[in-house]
Amino acid sequence: MNKKTIKDIDLKGKKVLVRCDFNVPMDENKNITDNRRIVSALPTIKYLLENNCAIILCSHLGRPKGEFKPEFSLQPVAKELSKQLNIEVKMAKDVIGEDAKQLANNLKEGEVMLLENVRFHSEETDNNEEFAKELASMADIYVNDAFGAAHRAHASTEGVAKFLPAVSGFLIEKELNFLGNAISNPERPFVAILGGAKVSDKIGVIDSLLEKVDTLIIGGGMAYTFFKAQGYNVGNSICELDKLDLAKQAMDKAKSKGVKLMLPIDTKIGKEFKPDTESKTVAWTEIPDNWEGFDIGEKTIEIFKEELKNAKTVIWNGPLGLFEFEQFAVGTNSIAETLANLDATTIIGGGDSAAAVEKAGLSPKMTHISTGGGASLEFLEGKKLPGIESLLNK
Ligand code: 3PG
Repeated sequence: MNKKTIKDIDLKGKKVLVRCDFNVPMDENKNITDNRRIVSALPTIKYLLENNCAIILCSHLGRPKGEFKPEFSLQPVAKELSKQLNIEVKMAKDVIGEDAKQLANNLKEGEVMLLENVRFHSEETDNNEEFAKELASMADIYVNDAFGAAHRAHASTEGVAKFLPAVSGFLIEKELNFLGNAISNPERPFVAILGGAKVSDKIGVIDSLLEKVDTLIIGGGMAYTFFKAQGYNVGNSICELDKLDLAKQAMDKAKSKGVKLMLPIDTKIGKEFKPDTESKTVAWTEIPDNWEGFDIGEKTIEIFKEELKNAKTVIWNGPLGLFEFEQFAVGTNSIAETLANLDATTIIGGGDSAAAVEKAGLSPKMTHISTGGGASLEFLEGKKLPGIESLLNK
């Protein structure tokens, strides 16, 4: 990485504003159901504590659309951080208001505080300069460790870097090392597995991965657009009719690049979108009207597994079926299990595929699970991430 990190700057006794991605899932009682993004931020916070910094943490949570909404408060995150760090993390009542400023002013070396959700102000997503300046005014140094939000050019991820010496934390460094190495220097065979509902979300990454991989496996909802593009009936399956040409172009590109493009050869279909719906498995060319594809079939699982057996680098982004419903989670879980047992570098893109791996209890067996959903996709697409571009060069 050509950006300065917290190791390249004198931190001793400084007040540091740290942007994290604490956008974590919570249940209806505000219990955090997956604390991975919080745990992943700890190495940076601990290093800053060892350097006697006073630490002002900030993050977004959800999309409150510029208004204070109690259900989007970061309070539960402060509680979890206090538990993880074994010190009290002081929670500010606001972001750049009196309470936050007073807490920040009085913050001593070795103390940690958390600002309220930066998205309680529309100026955050507007990347408003005044708002960024206000944030910056609380600290001496800015550290961005929010890999999951690095694709957003917002005030706390990008704007603020104009007003303070800006460096990256260890999480961003780690993410870029794993994702970057896999892309630019993969041990081969290099296989990418892409799932998820829409071709439109993934076409950029399909295009860029076709330049790099030996095999591209496509599953999940977007496979049905590829079936339709080849002239087959997909029943009620999710299908983007305006993306058939893109699917065809991707198939042509794979052929011209000598990349093996693998699509499902059978699919598990259901009558209705509900967990216990009637279901059956059919060949990909035989989806009847009024049925909907929800998972890859057993034969597909076998050919995908066979292909993965020899892989040395695998990147996976997007579930291969409707894994939230048990009967349609078989494809996603089988592929997760296959990856967990491979003698290969296995990189899981954030978002749903990370959640599926976590749900299956297989996270410790993967080489790297990204904390970024959209951010990891944009990185794999070869796009510049504003939250990283704005940091100081080495
Ligand atoms: C994520 O969950 O992918 C990040 O926290 C970014 O959230 P956003 O898509 O609301 O910007």
